[in-house]
Amino acid sequence: MATFTISVRDVTVDVEKDTPLLWVVRDELRLTGSKFGCGACTMIVYGMPRRTCITPVGTVDGSSIETIEGLEGPEAEAITAAWEGLDVPQCGGCQSGQIISATALLREVPTPTDKDLDAAMAGNVCRCATYVRIRQAIHDASSSMEGGAMTVQNRRQFLATGAGLVIALALPMRGRAQSGTAAVLTKDGLPAGTFAPNAFVRIAPTTP
Ligand code: FES
Repeated sequence: MATFTISVRDVTVDVEKDTPLLWVVRDELRLTGSKFGCGACTMIVYGMPRRTCITPVGTVDGSSIETIEGLEGPEAEAITAAWEGLDVPQCGGCQSGQIISATALLREVPTPTDKDLDAAMAGNVCRCATYVRIRQAIHDASSSMEGGAMTVQNRRQFLATGAGLVIALALPMRGRAQSGTAAVLTKDGLPAGTFAPNAFVRIAPTTP
C-alpha cells in the first residue's frame, strides 16, 4: 500500500512497495503519458526529476508527484509553447520525459547555460536525435520567461539557420579490423580509435 499526491490528486494504491512508480502510475492510475525507456519515465517528485522505472513506489509514500498529464505553471507553459513553436518531437516516444526534465531545469535555473542544460538533460535519450531542437526550445522558453521573443518560430525556419544535424552514433574512424585480422577493441567494446560523441555533438557546416 502506498499513498501520495499525483498532480494535485490524492491517491492510495494497493500494490507491493517495491513496484516501480512508473508501472503504478501507468497501470493502476491509467496515466500513460510517461513511457518506459531512457528517461521517458521521468516524473517530478517533490520538485526533483526522478527516473520512475527504478523508483519503488514505497519510497515515494506521502510525496507530491507531477506527471506530464498534470504539469503546469509558468515554466511548463513556456516549455510547451517553445516545443510547439519548434516542432520539437519526432516520433514523440521520449518527449514526455524531455518536457518534464526541461521544466524542472527552468524552475531551478531560469536562464540555464549549455552546461546546465547538458547536465540536466543527460538522462533523457532521444533515439530520433531531436537534441538540437530540444536545446533551442529550452533556451527559447527561458528567453520568453525573461520577456524576450522566441528566437525561432518553427522547424523550417530553425533548419534554415543552418543548425545542422546531430549524430548520436559512434562513428568508427580508426582501428577497424583488416581482412583476416582481429579488431583491437577498447574497454567499451568499440574498435580502438573509435570516436564516440555524446548525444549533443553538433555537425555544422564548419565541422571538420
Ligand atoms: S522524438 Fe523519437 S525518441 Fe525522441
